Amino acid sequence: MTRTTFTPALRVTFLVLILLAATVAHAGEVTLPMPGPWGDDYSETLDDPDTVDATEAFQRFRQQSMQGTSATYRSIEQILRYGAPFAGRLPDLAEELARRADDIETWFAHETPARHGEPGALPAAWEDPDFAEYKAAYREAAQQLQRKVESAEDLGNEDFQLRATEALNGVRHHCLACHDNYRRR
Ligand code: HEC
Repeated sequence: MTRTTFTPALRVTFLVLILLAATVAHAGEVTLPMPGPWGDDYSETLDDPDTVDATEAFQRFRQQSMQGTSATYRSIEQILRYGAPFAGRLPDLAEELARRADDIETWFAHETPARHGEPGALPAAWEDPDFAEYKAAYREAAQQLQRKVESAEDLGNEDFQLRATEALNGVRHHCLACHDNYRRR
């Protein structure tokens, strides 16, 4: 009876083939090497830049910026609502939230609504004149929170934190109202 023997060379070949199969990207994706001080074995599979046009990149930039806004908002919330011990960071975070609210104008500068049926911005964001008021009122709410934080004598004070939480709720109202009217999930 003959037995198939796996010579060391054959084993290495198999291993290489398996590794190759694991790293081959799907259609529309590329795998890029990410070398650095911890070695050359790191890589990332991402959308092939040739398949993402300028409109989609603009839309994705806006979505990432909204995600960043969300992270800033939620960080403030952890401090004010849940007592995370970072009250000293409130001035920076409130300023960041206000700056992001200012920035919102640029994220909608180009008409890049969601594709048919997909999640994203509704065409109304560019067609409805009221959209400008939603943006302006949101900026005002974010500035109000920032002013409240800046004028605080003691960022850890309970009364101040209660008033700041009310201002934070005021910001949240604008996130929710705008999404309700101009965003498809
Ligand atoms: C004036 C309107 C408006 C305001 C105010 C607003 N958003 Fe948005 N937001 C949108 C629209 C429109 C989209 C959909 C954008 C897209 O997908 O292109 C969106 C999308 C998002 C997304 C999803 C992003 C993704 O990855 O798809 C998050 C998260 C988000 N917003 C968080 C917030 C938070 C938090 C606030 C308030 C602090 C806020 N937004 C305020 C209009 C607004």
